[in-house]
Amino acid sequence: MTQFCENIAYSYLAEHFGTPLYVYSENALTNAFRAYEMAFSGSQPLICYAVKANSNLSIIKHFSELGSGFDTVSGGEIARVLAAGGAAKKIIFSGVGKSVAEIAFALNAGIKCFNVESLPELDRINQVAEQMGKIAPISLRINPDVDAKTHPYISTGLKANKFGIAMSQAEQAYQYAANQSHLKIMGIDCHIGSQLIDLSPLVEACQRLLMLVDKLSAQGIELEHIDLGGGVGIVYHNEPIPNLNEYAQAVQNLLAGRKLDLVLEPGRSLVGNAGTLLTRVEFVKQGEEKNFVIVDAAMNDLMRPALYQAYHHIENAEKNKQPEILADIVGPICETGDFLAQNRQIAAEAGDLLLVHSAGAYGASMASNYNTRCRAAEVLVSGDKVREIRQRETLEDVMRLEMKFL
Ligand code: LLP
Repeated sequence: MTQFCENIAYSYLAEHFGTPLYVYSENALTNAFRAYEMAFSGSQPLICYAVKANSNLSIIKHFSELGSGFDTVSGGEIARVLAAGGAAKKIIFSGVGKSVAEIAFALNAGIKCFNVESLPELDRINQVAEQMGKIAPISLRINPDVDAKTHPYISTGLKANKFGIAMSQAEQAYQYAANQSHLKIMGIDCHIGSQLIDLSPLVEACQRLLMLVDKLSAQGIELEHIDLGGGVGIVYHNEPIPNLNEYAQAVQNLLAGRKLDLVLEPGRSLVGNAGTLLTRVEFVKQGEEKNFVIVDAAMNDLMRPALYQAYHHIENAEKNKQPEILADIVGPICETGDFLAQNRQIAAEAGDLLLVHSAGAYGASMASNYNTRCRAAEVLVSGDKVREIRQRETLEDVMRLEMKFL
């Protein structure tokens, strides 16, 4: 049974900071980052932490101190990285719908590269750069048309997805980019999906991109970097996750002898298993057909179960609990989809503290105020020290932008 985050008891954290509460282990963040560095040590990649996985400023700052770059998908995320002291020169800007204002902001900041997803976006970036008297560094996101074999909502590398430029249109798109006055072609990128539990699509995507790199080279377009997108999947339940070293080895073999810098954009695997959501049981309700453990965290705090039927391991932090019942673990929100888990064996009573594991990625960053619930506090634990890194929201915070219109 898990009772501690590093050297601090979850029960202490829950009492001290209240629930629901996001707790992160700094050691786990560091170890996950170092694991990428070590696995890929042969190619010295720029690891660009995908900020969307957890955009807390203190977490960004921690990765920045470890030497990380950042993959961002909005002006807001770029602003977060800069506010946290991240280096502009290590920022990648991804996403299918970059606005004029966001492009201008990124150009002003001096980011490393725009990962471009369409021809109209190339035009827009070129125009904004021209107006600003700047040259925009760009990479084209190529859709390699491989099946990432993950949940359809987080699979992004198939032809039918909205992401990237089709393989068949890629050469033309590069020629087009090369003819624009205010663009500088830097690289090529892809991202085929998230929570990948099979290495072969990742390796295949890399192979397909390299074939394109060679074709482009033959046409006089030389690239500086290849960006392989997000990282490997993590263990939520007992999935057979890919071995990072194997992935690194396969990629490094493919890149051997080439003068291409490697960029990676892992998110989930850097933060997912470093985070736990603490929640208290409000009631245990024995229904006619089902039992419900009603807790004080809900889909607004952790949306993954409701949105993707995602599995998060849930443990009761109190000792010697029995007997177990079969129950859904649900929040107070008025939606049938508001569950953290379904059909779990769990022993629990009102007041118990539950630990929702693997909640560090796409947890707090996807939280909302639905049902006018204040977003949870977040804390970062390092050894026997704990720092609050996000204050619990108050109703005043939540209503602030509306009050003046009453
Ligand atoms: N790069 C790009 C362009 C991305 O779109 C993503 C994730 C990443 C990198 C990071 O991928 P990762 O290393 O985390 O697999 N909310 C969903 C996940 C959405 C992922 C979106 N893109 C979830 O909770 O499972």
